[in-house]
Amino acid sequence: MQLKSLEHLLTLLSFVVGGVVGAATSWRDMEKRQFQTDAVCDTSYVWASNSKQQTPCIVAAYVNGACGTNTYKVTKLIDGNRYNAPNATNANPCSCSWASYNLLSACTACQNMAQSIPTWDAWVYQCSSYLGNSYFPADITLASGTSIPFYAGTNPVSWPNHQFDPVQAKAIAAQSTLTPATSIPLPTDHRRQRRSVPE
Ligand SMILES: *[C@@H]1O[C@H](CO)[C@@H](O)[C@H](O)[C@H]1NC(C)=O
Repeated sequence: MQLKSLEHLLTLLSFVVGGVVGAATSWRDMEKRQFQTDAVCDTSYVWASNSKQQTPCIVAAYVNGACGTNTYKVTKLIDGNRYNAPNATNANPCSCSWASYNLLSACTACQNMAQSIPTWDAWVYQCSSYLGNSYFPADITLASGTSIPFYAGTNPVSWPNHQFDPVQAKAIAAQSTLTPATSIPLPTDHRRQRRSVPE
């Protein structure tokens, strides 16, 4: 069955079943379940979560899902595995965004698999036309209920060797709490976008 029609069926069902209980509530709950992860972050990576205490793994699901049907799951890494770079099938402005790379890298690191973090250059090998000048495409709306943590707005070419660095990212995260947006100049896009400004 097409995902779209399944969605419609579920919506219809939730209205029928939830009629008395409140269909609006059922719809809201369903919306939340569209972004998933079973990856668990080590407690030493609390800094990598956003202000809503969402791990980089679940925020990455929001970011990657934003170019599709707002349905995305970031699966946990099994030993030795890494997240796949965008390929011809799934490359888009979201999966090729700075935010997606930074968040999936932080998600890799927080599972104590920092050795599996790819370089930005390897990551965007098949992104060509989807690369942008900002951390997330300005014309795409991120679903509500999340926010992109400040360190994930970093241009990946500024990481050492163009490779996400958890130590530097942690320092940026700490900085953003102490002196918001002063020590790291924001491209104008960060200010123009209302919904997904990195914290
Ligand atoms: C692209 O990546 C996805 C997810 O990693 C994978 O399932 C798919 O087979 C890949 N497609 C190609 C053409 O390599």
